[in-house]
Amino acid sequence: MNQDIRFVQRETLKEKPDPASLGFGQFFSDHMFVMDYDLKNGWHDPRIVPYGPLTLNPSSMVFHYGQAIFEGLKAYKTEDGSIQLFRPEKNMKRLNDSCDRLCIPQIDEQFLLKAIKQLIYIERDWVPSGEGTSLYIRPFIFSTEAHLGVHPSSEYKLLVILSPSGAYYGSQLSPVKIKVEEHFVRAVVGGVGHVKTAGNYAASLKAQEVAEADGYAQILWLDAKENKYVEEVGSMNIFFKINGEVITPKLNGSILPGVTRDSVLQILKHWNVPVREVKISIEEVFAAHERGELEEVFGAGTAAVISPVGDLNWNGNTIVINNEQIGEISQRLYDTITGIQLGKIADPFQWTVKIEAAETTIS
Ligand SMILES: Cc1ncc(COP(=O)(O)O)c(C=O)c1O
Repeated sequence: MNQDIRFVQRETLKEKPDPASLGFGQFFSDHMFVMDYDLKNGWHDPRIVPYGPLTLNPSSMVFHYGQAIFEGLKAYKTEDGSIQLFRPEKNMKRLNDSCDRLCIPQIDEQFLLKAIKQLIYIERDWVPSGEGTSLYIRPFIFSTEAHLGVHPSSEYKLLVILSPSGAYYGSQLSPVKIKVEEHFVRAVVGGVGHVKTAGNYAASLKAQEVAEADGYAQILWLDAKENKYVEEVGSMNIFFKINGEVITPKLNGSILPGVTRDSVLQILKHWNVPVREVKISIEEVFAAHERGELEEVFGAGTAAVISPVGDLNWNGNTIVINNEQIGEISQRLYDTITGIQLGKIADPFQWTVKIEAAETTIS
């Protein structure tokens, strides 16, 4: 795809939010990227336009049959003031995997990445620079054909919106309380759990609501068939350090293959820390704790990077991990990944992608 991206500039720019009050997903930048699909033209009319409401037909298929997918990645401001992305090609690839599973036409990954870079370059003043802050990037696609009837839509919209986000943690990582879900399930093998469809998150809301009311930050999902094997947390993949070895559930078709998960695996191998992707039951995790061998538990995802788990509740029993203190591996991984993202330390894996002015010309 080699189309020029049209730019319609906003007349008056918005006031930027106070960097201290950013939180997550509350503020959106001045412009957004939009592109349409129909059978005659394929993906067409790529444009960067003022951020604002959309007009949709009430019979747009997305409202009825849920053909909606999304991605989440971040842009970081480095110490020298430049802006960089972290492994964005992985998110582009996962977006296409989601397209494939939901019968949405494939996108040109390189073209979309170029469009995202152009958008961020235009919105460069929206990339916050405070400790732990970033510009969250949300690409998403949904069906727009005005038609009732269950079949793949013949029309779609792809958008990218940007949201400055605050530090996930205050001055230091703080361990969270997690509840192992015993009643509800997130995804089944053969379903859509391995891709990023909006419906996965809709399906998780009830369990999350109950867990939050009970004082837990997030849920640890088990497999849907036997309610036995560990899958992942609400928006993170999960890792256990047992007797010196780091273990994470093997991708099985119902777990989302996280970019952070893959980065953690590569870094641990690089450090020669024993690491394995295995099918692990929650019973084995609790048994390891019983033996005094469960040294660390942590989640890994774009939002929190590394999130140490301090308490794990299953079947009415709560185990306390590492005295609710941050484990050594969790801290080291957090420092390394954020260090690479912010350009503070060397990037031996060549994961970061700079946003350069030269690549971002607009027609
Ligand atoms: C269900 C789920 N699992 C895992 C992750 C972690 O993925 P990533 O590291 O790509 O952010 C996410 C976040 O996108 C998620 O929503």
